[in-house]
Amino acid sequence: MFELSTIYAAFERYFGKPPTRIARAPGRVNLIGEHTDYNDGFVFPMALDRATYVAARPRDDRIVRVFSVKFRDEDQFDLDHIVRDTQRQWVNYIRGVAKGLLARDLPLRGADLLIDSDVPAGSGLSSSAALEVAVGYTFQLLNQINLLGEELALLAQGAEHSFVGVNCGIMDQLIAALGEAGHALLIDCRDLSYRPIPIPTGVRVVVCDSGVRHRLAGSEYNQRRAGCEEAVRILRPALGKIQALRDVRSTDLAEYGHLLPPELLPLVRHVVSENERTLAAADALAAGDVVKMGQLMIESHQSLRDDYRVSIAELDTLVDLALAAPGCYGSRMTGGGFGGSTVSLVEAEKVDEFVAAMIAGYAIRTGRTLQPLVCTAGAGVSCVYASEEE
Ligand code: GLA
Repeated sequence: MFELSTIYAAFERYFGKPPTRIARAPGRVNLIGEHTDYNDGFVFPMALDRATYVAARPRDDRIVRVFSVKFRDEDQFDLDHIVRDTQRQWVNYIRGVAKGLLARDLPLRGADLLIDSDVPAGSGLSSSAALEVAVGYTFQLLNQINLLGEELALLAQGAEHSFVGVNCGIMDQLIAALGEAGHALLIDCRDLSYRPIPIPTGVRVVVCDSGVRHRLAGSEYNQRRAGCEEAVRILRPALGKIQALRDVRSTDLAEYGHLLPPELLPLVRHVVSENERTLAAADALAAGDVVKMGQLMIESHQSLRDDYRVSIAELDTLVDLALAAPGCYGSRMTGGGFGGSTVSLVEAEKVDEFVAAMIAGYAIRTGRTLQPLVCTAGAGVSCVYASEEE
């Protein structure tokens, strides 16, 4: 677990004064509902008990100084002149969020920030959304700004679009802002409403990081998204008032799928079926039917691998190993794909055997060392330390 005293002391050492606030925002794992969020569809993530922490202290000027413990690097920018950095990507998450707050006419003053995280980066657990949301929330705390969790999530997503260049959906930022301990959230990405569903006590959620960092993730991601939007334009004359693939049903696809070019049909088939699976999975988990939930996860992986084509060999291997390991109800790749992690639903009593089988199997099949994480659903963004001084 992350020690608050460590980040407090690191801040004091670096900036010469103690922080006045420390905020945290969690990473996430998505149980099912992949590549549906930017199609106005459904997702079913849970927040992790791992998070990004921001220790902060306001300044009297308009300068923001940021030190990243992970990158051992400092950034400094002026709130009145925020530009994208073309060399260092990590600084753009912070700059983008500050710019987004200012664009909403919210008054900001300068700040010293120190950032640390125990969300592994690049493993598909949304360390970047955790960073954006934690930074946004920190500025809120330092400037007495009140934003709803949904607004904070939208602002963080905007930073990723305009400053980082990935046209991501809203899932990662929303769960980082609104996660609930012990629960996964079924989120409707059209109106951002959500339903918390408890994780049954008899199961564990296990994340296995393939060790492969998202290859080509940004460009492939943006291409898939553009493909979905193109499919909506093609289907609209036949289906009437559709705004997004969320509005297309399997029955519509059976009737009008022939209108789509061959490269778009499988994309649409994935999104349409994944939305249906996600709703069914949330009902199954709510009813404690973990066998059904597991089956839907398996189908989701097949669809991502064969139709949406965002899996890679190492993720497929992890899923195969999981399905052969003790106590596993279901397993699938999680997150955007092209690297990153799988998520498996495992019988609680067998979780140690499951973990041991995964480590051994992955070493034999790939020569790589696996460090499975047995995850508990954590809470969304919060302030974890506030000093007496302002
Ligand atoms: C990434 C994006 C999310 C979502 C997933 C795929 O994590 O940031 O918005 O689209 O990929 O489900």
